[in-house]
Amino acid sequence: MHTIVLATQKGGSGKSTLAIGLALAAKQAGFTVRLIETDPQGTLSNWSRRRNNHDVVVEPIYHAADFAPRLKMLADSGLQLAIVDTAAGLSAATTAAIRYSDLCLIPARPSVADIEATASTVSVARAWKRPYSFVLNQTPIRGQRIDNAANALAEEAALDLADVLARPLIVMRNDHQDSLASGLAVSEFAPSGKSTEEVRGLWRWIETRLELSAGNLLIDQVLSAVHEVLHAASGLSAGETTVLAS
Ligand SMILES: Nc1ncnc2c1ncn2[C@@H]1O[C@H](COP(=O)(O)OP(=O)(O)OP(=O)(O)O)[C@@H](O)[C@H]1O
Ligand SMILES: [Mg+2]
Repeated sequence: MHTIVLATQKGGSGKSTLAIGLALAAKQAGFTVRLIETDPQGTLSNWSRRRNNHDVVVEPIYHAADFAPRLKMLADSGLQLAIVDTAAGLSAATTAAIRYSDLCLIPARPSVADIEATASTVSVARAWKRPYSFVLNQTPIRGQRIDNAANALAEEAALDLADVLARPLIVMRNDHQDSLASGLAVSEFAPSGKSTEEVRGLWRWIETRLELSAGNLLIDQVLSAVHEVLHAASGLSAGETTVLAS
């Protein structure tokens, strides 16, 4: 199971909107998906109540200690994807969600305040050694402001932009607000709209990023196994040398 979390200190940057949009994009791509809500504001639960279809379950988890056991149960049940929507700020529940995630997505509008507010989330992801990416959301269709924002995010992460900035950028479009209000995801509300194309593209980018991260973890595991074998072998020859010497 993959677990992705949407987190940033700044309110209104699009965590809940993107969580819903990505959940349905992933479901339409064939994944089994659950939405997890740690935000007592209840944006996802309210959305779910407006929705006639209960095909995507919204599950609240408010206590940090409940995360690991619940995610394990979901993984054991065969679920393929859990998407966690967190509250603005940095609570214990958000920290736990990041800790147990495979990828932390940090949405930011192209504004100085949003970009500055990513710093604390980046620190938590780094502290738990979790992969993270920025999603520039509610952008104008084009303009200098986007490039400035993207460069500022790269500086914030001190990393190459291609590694940390998810693509495509998500443009400010009414479809996102209207779909949320009708209990739909944007890909259901406007299936052939630009907004849907962007969210589906974002899901494909995330899928690739998850596979790369899993690959890196696997390489780490193989390297550490090789290291252990070499270590054991060198220990053995040291022992043998001692026996021969005595
Ligand atoms: N790309 C977009 N285009 C237009 N409106 C958007 C877009 N993304 C989000 N919105 C709107 O911006 C508002 C805030 O979005 P949302 O509730 O998803 O943010 P949030 O980060 O979850 O906020 P909070 O921190 O309060 O939980 C909502 O009205 C939402 O519909
Ligand atoms: Mg929200």
